[in-house]
Amino acid sequence: MEPAGDFIRALPKAELHLHIEGTLEPQMAFQLAARHGMALPYPSVEALQQAYDFRDLQSFLDVYYAGAAVLRDERDFHDLTSAYLRRAHADGVVHAEIFFDPQTHTARGVALEAVIGGIGSALREAERELGLSHRLILCFLRHLSEDEAMRTLEQALPHLQAITGVGLDSAECGNPPGRFARVFERARALGLKAVAHAGEEGPASYIREALDVLKVSRIDHGVRSEQDPQLLARLVHERMPLTVCPLSNVRLRVFERMEDHNLGRLLAAGLCVTVNSDDPAYFGGYVADNYVAVQRALGLSREQIVQLAANSIEASFLPDAQKKAWQERIRVVAGAA
Ligand code: ADE
Ligand code: ZN
Repeated sequence: MEPAGDFIRALPKAELHLHIEGTLEPQMAFQLAARHGMALPYPSVEALQQAYDFRDLQSFLDVYYAGAAVLRDERDFHDLTSAYLRRAHADGVVHAEIFFDPQTHTARGVALEAVIGGIGSALREAERELGLSHRLILCFLRHLSEDEAMRTLEQALPHLQAITGVGLDSAECGNPPGRFARVFERARALGLKAVAHAGEEGPASYIREALDVLKVSRIDHGVRSEQDPQLLARLVHERMPLTVCPLSNVRLRVFERMEDHNLGRLLAAGLCVTVNSDDPAYFGGYVADNYVAVQRALGLSREQIVQLAANSIEASFLPDAQKKAWQERIRVVAGAA
């Protein structure tokens, strides 16, 4: 392992933008298909991997939703989550805020209890065994209606103690955040935090809408904020975190090459930028791979890497005392290197 990777893995980090369905590795997809006597439309792990050649967000989402079909019962969700948490722990992740897409599963007849039960037992196990803390964020699929999102929120009411916030994901263009104003209002009234994907493929105006209408605490992606200088100034002023996912952005052609990524400029402009893996099984790397890729392509300094790790803790939903303890630990690790 090269030194930048060693240093990055040693730094305590939070991962704040991770879709649990996006951690389904091809090998596990085949294992789960075999477990359920299902046939995948690919002859081998390699053939499935070759399908991971995306033109844009929608071409990825088609493969991602098809892949989720092998997740059928509580044990599947447990095994999926457990594998991710072990992998994240090896990358130095000390706290994970995980997205899940209930509608992808309930639409196939999988009970919400199985989804939340399986993810939840793996999260508790990782807390006990690895000391890795967590939050769970329920995402609404924005290509579906607000009424369907509202029904999903109602279904989740018996599980509110397991859920910290709501998010908004799936096909962005043509599905502005404002379409989900009522369901986010209801979620906030229930005491849930709000986050939303905005400014990944969609325009900077969607980021404004997520802030003003959905009243989010973080913007997921947000890289298109650069197109709007006034918005950028606002994001700096409000210290509104962006959960940026560099490998995802290159694989989904938001940026043609990693060298073109604007993360370095956003960081230099004073934004609370964080680095995350989004759907690591599909985009070629977990969180430390994302740090290494941007560090190399953009020539980030050691101080900037430390800043990114510190930002991830700051932007998390951890209580202040725990944030303080992790920031101190980051300073110790950075100083010792
Ligand atoms: N669902 C999973 N990954 C996503 C992404 N990058 N953008 C929108 N929806 C998603
Ligand atoms: Zn995402």
